[in-house]
Amino acid sequence: MRFVPRPNFWNLTLAALETVFAQFEIDLLKQKFAAQNEFLVVENLLGPETLQPLLARLPQLRPSVHRNYLPKHKKGGSVSRFMLDRMAPAFESLYTLPEFTQGLSYITGRSLLPCPGDDPHTYALYCYTEPGDHIGWHYDTSYYRGLRYTVLLGLVDRSSSRLEYQLCRDDPERETESLSLALAPGMLVVFNGDKLYHRVTPLGQGEERIVLTMEYVTDARMSATRRFISNMKDSIAYFGFRDAFQGRR
Ligand SMILES: [Fe+2]
Repeated sequence: MRFVPRPNFWNLTLAALETVFAQFEIDLLKQKFAAQNEFLVVENLLGPETLQPLLARLPQLRPSVHRNYLPKHKKGGSVSRFMLDRMAPAFESLYTLPEFTQGLSYITGRSLLPCPGDDPHTYALYCYTEPGDHIGWHYDTSYYRGLRYTVLLGLVDRSSSRLEYQLCRDDPERETESLSLALAPGMLVVFNGDKLYHRVTPLGQGEERIVLTMEYVTDARMSATRRFISNMKDSIAYFGFRDAFQGRR
């Protein structure tokens, strides 16, 4: 089936869209993802021209970055999906791009669904711009009834920060493997949020690191209690109370 861009779609060429996953041996990616306990890195998924419509929006988003600080765990800036929808719809276009979602579904072996419209974390920016910005060890816990898959896309990386992660920590049959990577622009990382233990090491002086995070689920239902907990976490650790609870309005 051929993808027809919507009228407001960003300025990507159809040829570029079709090569998003086609240029990679997608069966190989699927095998790697399974072999690495639901974790995958795709280097250079998006080239500079394809990334440009996203990068072009970053300067105007800077005033909307919400800074947060949780002692001993997290420091950095974030931009919620509500703010992105208002100011940079190209991000939603990528998140909802059929080829992209279908490719991710094939690789993960799951029918991936978008998060509902009231989830501020559906897609968001993590902006590390001040020395010491980081996040400590954690899982991307799913508050949904279904599984949660995190998809990270490197946008800017002029930093010494590393995504450090432990593969198979949840599998008693396999030895835990500790690895790290620099999330280069255009690099894609996909993982099951409840399986991958990970952190981002502190930013150095004069450095900058901006990452697009996207979240897909296998069942988008969430209880009211869990929605409240999720929004509280997003308010405190990421986007602030006003955006997390009222951003959609
Ligand atoms: Fe995370």
